[in-house]
Amino acid sequence: MAQVFDRSSNALARAGLVLTGLIVVALGVALNSLQRSPWVTKQGQRADQPVPFSHRHHVEGLGLQCQYCHTSVERAGYAGIPPTKTCMNCHSQIWTNAAMLEPVRQSWATGQSIKWIRVHDLPDYVYYNHEIHVNKGIGCATCHGRVDEMPIMYMENSLQMEWCLNCHRNPVKNLRPTSEIYNMAWSGPTTDKPVWCAETGKGGPTAQQVNCVTKDPKQGNPELAFLQTEGPLPRDSSTNGVAGAGNGQASSSTGTSLQPNALHGAGETYSDTQTGAILPAAYTKFTSQQALGTYLADHYRIRRPNELQSCEVCHR
Ligand code: HEC
Ligand code: HEC
Ligand code: HEC
Ligand code: HEC
Ligand code: HEC
Repeated sequence: MAQVFDRSSNALARAGLVLTGLIVVALGVALNSLQRSPWVTKQGQRADQPVPFSHRHHVEGLGLQCQYCHTSVERAGYAGIPPTKTCMNCHSQIWTNAAMLEPVRQSWATGQSIKWIRVHDLPDYVYYNHEIHVNKGIGCATCHGRVDEMPIMYMENSLQMEWCLNCHRNPVKNLRPTSEIYNMAWSGPTTDKPVWCAETGKGGPTAQQVNCVTKDPKQGNPELAFLQTEGPLPRDSSTNGVAGAGNGQASSSTGTSLQPNALHGAGETYSDTQTGAILPAAYTKFTSQQALGTYLADHYRIRRPNELQSCEVCHR
């Protein structure tokens, strides 16, 4: 800086240039952080919904599963917002006079859907898909936070490119068994809470080649899986709650039915063995996220981080 303020006649002009430069840089920094600020990204903001729907009451309180309302999350790009009929399964009988449910009754009477305000909304030039994330072991809570504790829905993460890339750079730290996708409190294996996984030794959809349990398979664990035969899995209607839910979409032929107990009661066992059970000895024990994540990345056939970061993955 010394020569900027020397005796040369240009000193003032140069100082001016330096100053302008500094202002431009400062503006840039300000704009950049503004673009990333929650004010612009709407991160954490509660939308003013027509009905103050509470996930906490319906999920944590009543024990409803996410897919009772978001019926397509496992097998389509979009998770879907439930139609009024889903609400009326209960609210034609419960809280029938509550004023805050008036828009629901209106919607039911007129056939006009409730105008929910979108909380998450990626720009159109970004390609995003739920099915692949959910079937490759990314839990709802990893992206959406503790939805079961939200009285009013808000966006936990910014959904900005950097946020997506942060995981695509190193998916291992976020992978969990697909049986734990809906577990809002999942925190990864530790020495105190290990996870055991075994290969089911079959082809077919990647995620189903692995079975993971959270109790020691060597101690007569009732959670022990039965090998699945090929073909469509019957969706377990009991875990879907009240009958007649959703918008009547039939489950697709490749439906993976990720309910925690989906592997039980499917009524079919692998014909190669008497019982169909995977031998306890086949299970590997995991006590760290790094080890489990690495194993799952391999078995779910997750692409290499450099492939997952290429522009065409999200901008097609
Ligand atoms: C009883 C039905 C019901 C259940 C069960 C339910 N949801 Fe929702 N969900 C809704 C409705 C209605 C909305 C739209 C209103 C709102 O945003 O709160 C919504 C909105 C959302 C949104 C934001 C959508 C947007 O606009 O971007 C997310 C994310 C979401 N739910 C995740 C979950 C998860 C995760 C679970 C399970 C832990 C779950 N939901 C269980 C009914 C349900
Ligand atoms: C499985 C039954 C069931 C379904 C399906 C259901 N609700 Fe509810 N809802 C309840 C019950 C029970 C309560 C009372 C909860 C309480 O007070 O603990 C309730 C309460 C509410 C309330 C009062 C505020 C609150 O959360 O306590 C609103 C608003 C509401 N529901 C909206 C909806 C909407 C909108 C839908 C459809 C997307 C829906 N509900 C679907 C059972 C259901
Ligand atoms: C890898 C991150 C990620 C995971 C995992 C994830 N979501 Fe989403 N979710 C998103 C993004 C991003 C959007 C916004 C999509 C858009 O705007 O097109 C979204 C939107 C939604 C919506 C709004 C409606 C729609 O389909 O766009 C619902 C409801 C929802 N998610 C529920 C769930 C549920 C339930 C799960 C777990 C089974 C889940 N999400 C898992 C990132 C994720
Ligand atoms: C917590 C981790 C995580 C986050 C956050 C995440 N992803 Fe992914 N994404 C994955 C994994 C794992 C895969 C599966 C890779 C594979 O199968 O090779 C994937 C795959 C994809 C694919 C490939 C789909 C296909 O059919 O080829 C797209 C597109 C994608 N992600 C978009 C996004 C976008 C957009 C965001 C941010 C809004 C996002 N992801 C955030 C982990 C994540
Ligand atoms: C994992 C998904 C993903 C990948 C891979 C990805 N992007 Fe993006 N990109 C996004 C998302 C999400 C947004 C929207 C951000 C927002 O809403 O502000 C975005 C926005 C953009 C924008 C708009 C300006 C901005 O920064 O908001 C540009 C330009 C862009 N991306 C270029 C690229 C290029 C070039 C590559 C390859 C080097 C790339 N992206 C790779 C997800 C991705």
